[in-house]
Amino acid sequence: QNLVCCVRTVKTTTFFEEHLTEDNQEYMRKTMAEEYRRQTAEKLNPLKDEPWERHEWTEGSRRVGLVAVKLGMAPVWTKTGERHVVTMLQVQDCHVLKCLSKEEHDGRTAALVVGGKNVSPFQRSEQSMDMFRTAGVPPKQKVSVFGVSDNALIKPGTPLYAAHFRPGQYVDITAKSIGKGFQGVMKRWGFKGQPATHGQTKTHRRPGASGPGGDPAKVFKGKKMPGQMGNVYVTAYGLKVWRVNTKHNVLYVNGSVPGHRNCVLKVKTHTHKHTFPRVEGVSVKSKVNPGALASPGRDG
Ligand SMILES: *[C@@H]1O[C@H](CO)[C@@H](O)[C@H](O)[C@H]1NC(C)=O
Repeated sequence: QNLVCCVRTVKTTTFFEEHLTEDNQEYMRKTMAEEYRRQTAEKLNPLKDEPWERHEWTEGSRRVGLVAVKLGMAPVWTKTGERHVVTMLQVQDCHVLKCLSKEEHDGRTAALVVGGKNVSPFQRSEQSMDMFRTAGVPPKQKVSVFGVSDNALIKPGTPLYAAHFRPGQYVDITAKSIGKGFQGVMKRWGFKGQPATHGQTKTHRRPGASGPGGDPAKVFKGKKMPGQMGNVYVTAYGLKVWRVNTKHNVLYVNGSVPGHRNCVLKVKTHTHKHTFPRVEGVSVKSKVNPGALASPGRDG
């Protein structure tokens, strides 16, 4: 795999560094890199301090997820010659930062705060730096909270790797979609537009009449209209993990995921709540409580 070509070079200076002299910049960068390496290496030493007790997976337990970086897309082929398109997600410097008790989180489950991708400490507020210092890990670009069951709690400071997921597992991926700006109805909602000819003047890509007349005398909420498109959090549900590269910590998930290249996203185990994974020869619907299917809409 030629992963190198997918990684965009990023600007390493922060705006704080721009006020430093060349020598000081160099020094800061070197010491910071050393400090980060030291912190990460310390965590890798199994004798340094004991991890929390491990529990068996049981029906209904909820594991923590990962924070990963989207590298880009590539094809993979199975042994039978089928071609699948996958998205490569790299798990970079993903650490557990904090453990929230049931009361601190939402009153229903305990939670783990997980961060991914190291950044310059200048980019984080003093308030959030506290959390990183307590966990003894470098500051992170993205911090996510994952609800977990009590038997899946992990000690803060523990690194997480791509091997957290296995090939064949299904995952849900949440990320901020690519922002498209303020768009018209054709691009935003796929409206047909209006004819090019037959007397149309300046109404080719416009929405046309919006429906209700004198009786409701209002525009119903949710009417498809022009507006901001993209740049919102979107979740892709039930994506199969085709392959896991434990050396470079890359997850290969089926199909596309929201977000631009190099964006930092949240990967968690798929729950059967929103959609059913496509499993050959198994009727997944039969496993699900029929009551759960009766309630439509987002909350269902
Ligand atoms: C993979 O994704 C494609 C496109 O999103 C979909 O058609 C296909 O069924 C998926 N395959 C699996 C095994 O989930």
